[in-house]
Amino acid sequence: MNLVTTISEARALLDAARRQGRSVGLVPTMGYLHTGHRSLIERSVADNDVTMVTIFVNPLQFAADEDLATYPRDLDADLALCAQAGVSIVLAPTVHEMYPLEPITTVQVAQLSAHMEGAKRPTHFAGVATVVSKLFNIAGPCRAYFGEKDYQQLAIIRRMVLDLSFPVDVVGCPIIREDNGVAMSSRNAYLSPEERSAAAVLNRSLRAAVRVIEDGQRDPEAVRALVLAMIGDTELVSEPDYVEIVDADSLEPLDVISGDVRIILAARVGKPRLLDNIGVSVG
Ligand code: PAF
Repeated sequence: MNLVTTISEARALLDAARRQGRSVGLVPTMGYLHTGHRSLIERSVADNDVTMVTIFVNPLQFAADEDLATYPRDLDADLALCAQAGVSIVLAPTVHEMYPLEPITTVQVAQLSAHMEGAKRPTHFAGVATVVSKLFNIAGPCRAYFGEKDYQQLAIIRRMVLDLSFPVDVVGCPIIREDNGVAMSSRNAYLSPEERSAAAVLNRSLRAAVRVIEDGQRDPEAVRALVLAMIGDTELVSEPDYVEIVDADSLEPLDVISGDVRIILAARVGKPRLLDNIGVSVG
């Protein structure tokens, strides 16, 4: 496995691989890798001849009052996981390597970034879209792997690829969960044991929502009320920032539940904000 820290080294390795006819998989991460990341990496290693994992805590996607300084980091453990999973290249650049100057060129994916996480974190998705554009430009033609846990992020990246013609095939991968159903996230490291067990209500409420939809409920307000009531009854979990029932592709809120639907929520459990979502198809 090659560990590189510069854009030019990563490009040279990937260009050489492509010249030999080898396919490239890209797994962008902010490090502190867990089983969820591992599943993306394993999928990329299975699908491609060469997999590059990037480890970069992107300052552009954190607001001033967020956890950039304390975001969990463990490069040695990340490198061990990557080596074990068969990764060919890890790119772990410095902030200066990625942003030698304060960037004045950013990527905005307008409507898709306006609600849910975007309403709560107004600068977040421009930061994500900008760094992912850079990573796509560094990697070149490839398949790129993202988790469905950040469902709005995935939809934004898909649309960005379409709008800007990146030579990238975006592959969305299923959410990996802890034993109690909590969606895996690097920020779960902030949870106390009590909070971790309280957090299970997020997935439990989503599964209950799917059950009522499968039983015929078509009113999004009734489904939202069910989810809010279950979460509201749970100590240590805040009132959700949002519970949205949206079209799975456009992320438009639905008036009537039909087609491919995604139920997406965010709530604080103790201090950390956790995201979760679930899909359901209504024929
Ligand atoms: O999902 C993440 O870890 C980050 O938002 C990403 C896509 C690596 C961009 O920094």
